[in-house]
Amino acid sequence: MLQIQNLESGYGGSMVLRGVSLRIERGQVVCLLGRNGVGKTTLLKSLMGLLKAQSGSICLENHDLSKASPDKRARAGIAYVPQGREVFPGLTVAENLELGLEARTDKVTQVPDEIFEMFPVLREFLPRKAGALSGGQQQQLAIGRALASSPRLLLLDEPMEGIQPNVVSQIEDAIHLLKKSGDVAVLLVEQSLDFATTVADYTYILDHGQVVLEGRPEELTPEKVKAHLTL
Ligand SMILES: Nc1ncnc2c1ncn2[C@@H]1O[C@H](COP(=O)(O)OP(=O)(O)O)[C@@H](O)[C@H]1O
Ligand SMILES: [Mg+2]
Repeated sequence: MLQIQNLESGYGGSMVLRGVSLRIERGQVVCLLGRNGVGKTTLLKSLMGLLKAQSGSICLENHDLSKASPDKRARAGIAYVPQGREVFPGLTVAENLELGLEARTDKVTQVPDEIFEMFPVLREFLPRKAGALSGGQQQQLAIGRALASSPRLLLLDEPMEGIQPNVVSQIEDAIHLLKKSGDVAVLLVEQSLDFATTVADYTYILDHGQVVLEGRPEELTPEKVKAHLTL
């Protein structure tokens, strides 16, 4: 469903992504691993259109989105949860979730129940200001908001980073659930191989802005990935 070819992208004069190619099939969970500073976030920003690619192409279900605005990409079915869980702290949980509905192309005006089944705390805290939630709860809200747009592709940038362990397992369960449902493809950025091994259909390892290793989980043994990750 998603095909990235030879993507080159960076900031000002400095090139970060140096010819990245990657594909995701419908409903797959694909993990993107790599150490700090190798370009994982840059790749997600380029995919969402927040950063203009210098060259290469991004196609979603055969539509070329390479030059499309972030808004157009959102309406095409891409949802993005940035690193560091950006929610609107001054808005309530309910208002944050409703913002997610805006990218929908159907007429749904209510936050789908599945989101509350996935993260019950969100229902409980609907009238609260998002800023009053714990870090883990804000991450659940950020993911819930992204899912409210009913995306075909969900981009998650290190969703477990700095999150308390009980919430980590809820987020992991949510990703497994999405995979089981088969409706939403997930591109998950992580720094370690552990969770990727349990959930990924396919994994890419990025180093210095290039894909240095890729494969199905059983092909990526710790020995092979060691050189590119901090294990
Ligand atoms: N806004 C920015 N302006 C300039 N350089 C940046 C910016 N954001 C990231 N970089 C640089 O781009 C490189 C890749 O960063 P990033 O994509 O955030 O890596 P990762 O997500 O893998 O940790 C790093 O060298 C980083 O310093
Ligand atoms: Mg990053």
